[in-house]
Amino acid sequence: MALRRPFSLAVDPAEELPLYLQLARGIADAIRAGRLRAGDALPGSRTMARSLGVNRNTVLSAYEELAAEGWVVGRRASGTFVAEDLPSPLRSRRAQAATAATVGFALASPIEHDTFPRHPPGVFVLTRGTPDPRLLPTIELARAYRRVLQKDGRRLLVYGDHRGHPGLRLGLAEMLSSARGLTVTADDLLVTRGSQNALDLIARALVTPGDVVAVEALGHPVVRAAFRLAGARLRSVPVDPHGACVGDLERLAGNHRIRAFVVTPHHQFPTTAVMPAARRMQLLHVAAQHRIAVIEDDYDHEFHYEGRPVLPLASADSAGVVIYVGTLSKVLAPGLRLGYVAAPRPFVDRIASIRAVTDIQGDLVMEAAVAELFASGELVRHVGRMRRIYRSRRDALVAAVRRELGNTVQVEAPPGGTAVWARVGSDGEPIDIDGWARRGEQHRVIFRSARAYAFDGAEVNHLRLGFTLHDEDELATAVRRMAAALPAR
Ligand SMILES: Cc1ncc(COP(=O)(O)O)c(C=O)c1O
Repeated sequence: MALRRPFSLAVDPAEELPLYLQLARGIADAIRAGRLRAGDALPGSRTMARSLGVNRNTVLSAYEELAAEGWVVGRRASGTFVAEDLPSPLRSRRAQAATAATVGFALASPIEHDTFPRHPPGVFVLTRGTPDPRLLPTIELARAYRRVLQKDGRRLLVYGDHRGHPGLRLGLAEMLSSARGLTVTADDLLVTRGSQNALDLIARALVTPGDVVAVEALGHPVVRAAFRLAGARLRSVPVDPHGACVGDLERLAGNHRIRAFVVTPHHQFPTTAVMPAARRMQLLHVAAQHRIAVIEDDYDHEFHYEGRPVLPLASADSAGVVIYVGTLSKVLAPGLRLGYVAAPRPFVDRIASIRAVTDIQGDLVMEAAVAELFASGELVRHVGRMRRIYRSRRDALVAAVRRELGNTVQVEAPPGGTAVWARVGSDGEPIDIDGWARRGEQHRVIFRSARAYAFDGAEVNHLRLGFTLHDEDELATAVRRMAAALPAR
């Protein structure tokens, strides 16, 4: 229970902040608000301690803290006083506003980036392909984390390997070798904080400002931004129903020295297209011929629902041109910030040395906990469960779109991934997708035009609708809301 005392001071033992800091904050607030003025005497430490019901040392520590911050001065034998040279409350408020609102130095150009706003419960979000938080294996993860911290905390909570926890690298290497056809060991891998961190490290290792990097004409803006941040000049490669058009990359390489090509061959982002084998071979050939680093962003590999899984480009790379990037953001949770890079070893060493001076290392305790989930088979079981659930959600979303929006939106079930790619507009009749999305927000459903992914910012008459975040009933409701938000005809 809080205790009320002179000038409304309150300290509460149940609060997390230590008592002496609570007291110091209370007195500083009283000075700021003008309830205590310059030169005012504070009560003696014994009196203050008695009136608050705290130990005298607590009061002495609070006064010391205030003196160190310049709020009060102690005068030998006469007591503690509010400092004389405090700015007036009004002046200090103005000064605060000035420092908060303006910057007195030059900034580099801003970069585009996505935001992840929180929406109130009951609002359905179709812009994301992230896991449903209700399905996360939090109990298993918590158990593993606790076990690891108790057993190995003293070894893990120190500076460690820039490349990440050896157990997790081993688990990842085994998974990549057995399920994805890569011939890698733990030493060919670096664990990152999500694929975004991987892309940043790769960009720093490859790009000298002014270098040309090719990206897909439709792609994730945050991925492009990582390369812009490193000073790359970006050029776009068109995307068709078979993924990135490798012929166009080859033509581009005829005119520019292309340092790297960032590509999503497995489920093209955002169109979900799977790149066929012949085009994959062509891409590896063009990359080897022009010495282009192929950055394979394989962000949702586990979620393939039809037929045999398609192996990554990296599994067929004999020329050492592919830098393979994976993530646990879709498999487990994006907030874990766990991803990885598999690449020729000298390149892994290079990005490890960049990490040494940017981030030093990742969260080794969490990495070790996830390594346990790999080793116990829990992660594989979780992925299997999620695959069944997401497949059913995909079918529910496709059915709902056909039922509710059949005249306006055409959609095919994608063979894999976390979202559908839906064409908007029928009989050549254009639809203002931005206006529709704005009305959708009022109906408590969030979607947006695929223009958000376009390199040139031009309108794209498609939507990418994510199906992983919500269950079948919620998806049906979300699509009904989309239909309600359509313009009247
Ligand atoms: C294509 C693609 N690449 C990379 C990322 C970054 O993912 P993360 O950094 O969480 O691994 C995302 C996130 O949505 C993505 O869609």
